[in-house]
Amino acid sequence: MISIRTKLFVHICFLLVLFVLAAWCLSALFLEDFYIRNKKRSLIENGLKIDALYAADKNIALELERIADNVGVSAIITDSGGYLKYSSFERLARRQAPGRPFAGSPPPPPSPATTISSEDVDGNSVIEIQNDPGLNIKFIMLKRRLSGGDMLILRLPLAAVTESAAYANKFMAFSGLLAILAGCIWAFFFARKFTVPLQELSEVAASISRLDFSRRCRIASDDEVGRLGQSVNDLSRQLSKAIAELNEKNRQLTVDVEKERNLDKLRRDFVSGVSHELKTPISLILGYAEGLRENVARDRADRDYYCSVIGDEAEKMDKLVNDLLDLSQIEAGYFRLDRTDFDLSLLFDEIAQKYRAILKEKNITLRIERRSPAMVNGDRLRIEQVITNLLNNAIAHTEDERLIRIDAEDEGDVFRASVFNTGRPIPAASVDSLWQSFYKVDKARARGLGGRGLGLSVVRAIQELHGGAYGVENTAGGVVFWFSLAKTAENCPS
Ligand SMILES: Nc1ncnc2c1ncn2[C@@H]1O[C@H](COP(=O)(O)OP(=O)(O)OP(=O)(O)O)[C@@H](O)[C@H]1O
Ligand SMILES: [Mg+2]
Repeated sequence: MISIRTKLFVHICFLLVLFVLAAWCLSALFLEDFYIRNKKRSLIENGLKIDALYAADKNIALELERIADNVGVSAIITDSGGYLKYSSFERLARRQAPGRPFAGSPPPPPSPATTISSEDVDGNSVIEIQNDPGLNIKFIMLKRRLSGGDMLILRLPLAAVTESAAYANKFMAFSGLLAILAGCIWAFFFARKFTVPLQELSEVAASISRLDFSRRCRIASDDEVGRLGQSVNDLSRQLSKAIAELNEKNRQLTVDVEKERNLDKLRRDFVSGVSHELKTPISLILGYAEGLRENVARDRADRDYYCSVIGDEAEKMDKLVNDLLDLSQIEAGYFRLDRTDFDLSLLFDEIAQKYRAILKEKNITLRIERRSPAMVNGDRLRIEQVITNLLNNAIAHTEDERLIRIDAEDEGDVFRASVFNTGRPIPAASVDSLWQSFYKVDKARARGLGGRGLGLSVVRAIQELHGGAYGVENTAGGVVFWFSLAKTAENCPS
């Protein structure tokens, strides 16, 4: 690729050489003719002038010499017989040798000149180009018949004209070369100055095409290129903004699609979870009802047993359906919390009271660590449900020492309630999934414990409705589930 800079430089130099050459050719061809024509005109004008002076005063020797010297011609006036009356050299000749004849041998008489061209000017004057064979010189000659019949002859050697033209041509060639040299240096710097902003524009445009919008044109000139630079900068800004917006929308769309996909999976898991949980009690109820109808149970004790199984399974289904209804109401946002201020420590005591018998039966120690009041704001009934669900899990999973600890720690704006039980830690991979409906870490074990995987989803839903945090941590010797509750307004540190 030939750069604009080179092209511009070459074109300017070429034009320069062309103009100089053309000017030089014109002068070489026509300058001599031009000079001759001007000299002829000058001879005619001076002939007229001398004619007018001569008509007024016949003694014009001095004036004749002045005009001849000014114009650079030799001038003579002869009478009608051809004898010399005045000459432009008269004064000079006299001063050199006053009253004496010419020293040395006199010049030979003039040989008849050959006329090369002749043109009549106004009837009285003739301009001739003559060759003097004795001198071997060409002359331009004006012959004018003056008033009174005398003859004026003005003679100019052609060599003077051709020499002037040759000097002029030489000077022209020399100054032309200088002009070309100076012009080329100027063209070099001009082409560079002209192409630097274009180069910058091209680099910025290339960056834009690579989606790099960090570069800006810094062209300060107030012309078309400067305005183009501004437009490229505006374009870069607008494109950068548009692409950033597009990327943001794309990211949002990806997040939405991902959310939708997760929701869809959750929905499918939920349906399969519900079906799975209902399958066992329904098949048990169907089996035992069939047994009753077929009179498989012969005595009353058998029949009572069949009926109690059917009743237990129906009760489980009822509890499941109630929990699911609660959960769906909370998650759909229809559930309204009945917020009150209450003491968490008191609630712990109440729950411990209710569980006393079952804990004793299972040989589990329950310790309530917090003894001082912990005033919180929330739906007391729902918070009781949260604690009960966590306590049920702790009872179901406690091992080793069979110890459960319930506590409430002051954390500034909130109380952090926690239920700890000794036992096996929860695998790290399951920690985040525990809060999904129907999720169980060890399915076989959970089934043996009668778990349906709903307890913690209810905890999550209630906590989200309260706007409180919740979580689980494996600690030394066991597992701790926790949730936070806002303090009552007057309890809050300001
Ligand atoms: N204290 C705990 N120690 C160890 N694992 C636990 C504990 N609490 C819960 N888990 C695990 O989390 C799973 C989900 O608990 P979640 O309370 O949601 O369901 P569940 O107890 O199985 O059934 P549900 O509470 O509906 O009767 C349990 O199946 C169990 O694997
Ligand atoms: Mg549970």
